[in-house]
Amino acid sequence: MIDLIVCLLLLLGISACVAEVYFVVAYMHSRFGEFPPFFPSFGKMKKVCLEEAEQILRQSQKTLTIVDLGCGSGSLLIPLAKKFPQHRFIGYDWDVVPYAIASFRARHIVNVELFCADFTQADLSEADVVLIFGGKKLFAQWGKKFVESLKNDAVIVSEAFPITQLVPEKEILATSYGMALKVYTYRIAKKTLAKSKENL
Ligand SMILES: C[S@@+](CC[C@H](N)C(=O)[O-])C[C@H]1O[C@@H](n2cnc3c(N)ncnc32)[C@H](O)[C@@H]1O
Repeated sequence: MIDLIVCLLLLLGISACVAEVYFVVAYMHSRFGEFPPFFPSFGKMKKVCLEEAEQILRQSQKTLTIVDLGCGSGSLLIPLAKKFPQHRFIGYDWDVVPYAIASFRARHIVNVELFCADFTQADLSEADVVLIFGGKKLFAQWGKKFVESLKNDAVIVSEAFPITQLVPEKEILATSYGMALKVYTYRIAKKTLAKSKENL
């Protein structure tokens, strides 16, 4: 009995060490917080993102391309792909751990394509809807290029962080676990593009 308890404690300790090493490596990989690290979308924020994406996907007669930039373990992409088999879903994540989890979850879903790659290098010219959990620094440095790489009428659903180069179509309060978080939606249009150019 004591042997079993010692083994369990040892296993717990090893798992905690592995998790700790993973989080340190992931934080370094995220260039010390410049890029968002991995944690699954959560709470009301996740619910609002899904609702916003679903609203667009439900209304469209033609096949849409949805790109999740930093898809993590696929908590947004996978349920959407299952619910809307008529649309095409693409996910990018450069962290092998969430990428492996998402790939496993998507193994039987034919309308999902996943890439273990840097999303700032992705071709977004075909994207109709972009899901993103960015960050202040990321949008400050890459926001202009990101916005310019999208086609007219593309919609962005941004978790937690506003894209300062654009004027939001909606700003939805999504308080999650006591945190006053928001979801921002943007539509790329000539007007917003012109406005974005003024702000850049
Ligand atoms: C907050 S998590 C998003 C979680 C995801 N929505 C989910 O529910 O699992 C942000 C993710 O973006 C990924 N990421 C950050 N910067 C990236 C980049 N430049 N290219 C690809 N993935 C990136 C991280 O590895 C992380 O998994």
